[in-house]
Amino acid sequence: MMTVRILLVSLLLSTNIAAQNRIQISPKPVSVKENPGEFKLSSETEIVLWGGSLKQEAVYLRDYLNQYFQLNLKIDSSGKSKASSRIVLNYDRLDHPFPGAYNMTVKSDEVYIGGDNPSGVFYGIQSIIQLLPSKAGEIPVIPNCEIQDSPRFAYRGVHLDVSRHFFPVEYIKRYLDYIAYHKMNVFHWHLTDDQGWRIEIKKYPLLTEVGAWRDGTLIGKHPGKGYDTIRYGGFYTQEQIKEVVAYATSRHVEVIPEIEMPGHSMAAIAAYPFLSTTPDKPKKVAKGWVNYGDYEYNNVLNPSDTTFKFLEDVLTEVMELFPSQYIHIGGDECSKRWWKESTFCQKLKKEKGLKDEKALQSYFIQRVEKFVNSRGKSIIGWNEILQGGLAPNATVMSWMGTSGGITAAKKKHYVVMTPGSACYFDHPQRANDDSTGLGKPVLIDSVYAYNPMPKVLTPEFQKYILGAQANVWTEYIGNTSKLEYMLFPRLAALSEVVWTPQKDRSFSEFKKRLVKQKERYEMWGINYSK
Ligand code: ACM
Repeated sequence: MMTVRILLVSLLLSTNIAAQNRIQISPKPVSVKENPGEFKLSSETEIVLWGGSLKQEAVYLRDYLNQYFQLNLKIDSSGKSKASSRIVLNYDRLDHPFPGAYNMTVKSDEVYIGGDNPSGVFYGIQSIIQLLPSKAGEIPVIPNCEIQDSPRFAYRGVHLDVSRHFFPVEYIKRYLDYIAYHKMNVFHWHLTDDQGWRIEIKKYPLLTEVGAWRDGTLIGKHPGKGYDTIRYGGFYTQEQIKEVVAYATSRHVEVIPEIEMPGHSMAAIAAYPFLSTTPDKPKKVAKGWVNYGDYEYNNVLNPSDTTFKFLEDVLTEVMELFPSQYIHIGGDECSKRWWKESTFCQKLKKEKGLKDEKALQSYFIQRVEKFVNSRGKSIIGWNEILQGGLAPNATVMSWMGTSGGITAAKKKHYVVMTPGSACYFDHPQRANDDSTGLGKPVLIDSVYAYNPMPKVLTPEFQKYILGAQANVWTEYIGNTSKLEYMLFPRLAALSEVVWTPQKDRSFSEFKKRLVKQKERYEMWGINYSK
């Protein structure tokens, strides 16, 4: 009797292990049940649309299968196909508070995906991609299973700084593919900073003629070994921006543009010195790391009517290009020294009854918010926008730890968490990393261990935590190979942080799934950190 029980237990255990081997989806779905058998894709398989407006998702799946498995499947938009092997895309009513939920059933003759809307269907397709072999050209079979899945957070972001180093449109599209593969849904595009202005603005051509180029770049890690003398730069035309937004939209990724203000504005000031509190001093696009703490460097916008007119013009063009509800207005690391030293700013402060320079910063952000709100959009800014009083409708991106985010949530403002210790992917992946990074290591363990929902928040305030984001600052990331090394596999860990229910997460189990994920990275041509 005893032996039989032991046998049974070990049989059950081994089936479990087998299930783990066959179904290895990252981020881990909410619920997975494996069934015997498998669905084999062939050139006879059809993608059948039962739900309307799912052509884009079908084309995405067809193109993926074509690229990696040389299968060019027929898409049946009529929904009437009687094909004996089919992948059905449809809608199911699913009770989830925000988009992205889906049900999936794989049987030997049919894969069925029912999404709550097209993004849910798209995430079902991502799960199919992960059920397929992780090596290109292998026989495309999918294990029979039933999956119910939905994202934990509505905001699942990945950022990229294209100012410190520039990445061309073709690569931005790849980056968007990577975001989508991980079921992330926001691309925060850091388009302007001291080291380069990267978006064409028709009304102010010097922003890109002058502001997109620098005369050299810091060699090595700050303070560095001097500067090279290679002219460096680049920018995106408005046509290219539209192309990127369309590409992102087809992958259910929202693109949030960031236009930095009032600090981090050296490139804009170099193009248009009238934006500065010291317009008569020489201005140059920064060549390397700027030591914000020392306040040596006047990269701050003057809060004058001329500056606000400039910003309104710029933001008008930006808002026409990006359908996103959010415009990121930066707001971080603005030195107050230059406003303290400016007669104009001191006069303005008195006139407006502002207590100090922090209040002046709040005045600045609130004025910009009013304009953005008047165009039906909302601002999001780094946690320093809390200084001197938060703009009434602003969303806060908490990067200096999580306290700014907690404060904002308690004031009933929406929050995106991106604390340095878990979400800064410009930091090294480990101690003694062979690649230059900024600050302390952010191990994949710390990324995985992060829970964006602060324990101190009661349910009333928890709903203000929208999600979390990985930040990829590129001071020391000069090429795409290094960029991928910094991003992967930490992004896999963060995707599970923002997708999978907290109670279902286990780092040791995630690490087992990571083996397959790394095989996929190789198939996709990603240079991940080993
Ligand atoms: C930041 O890292 N300065 C937002």
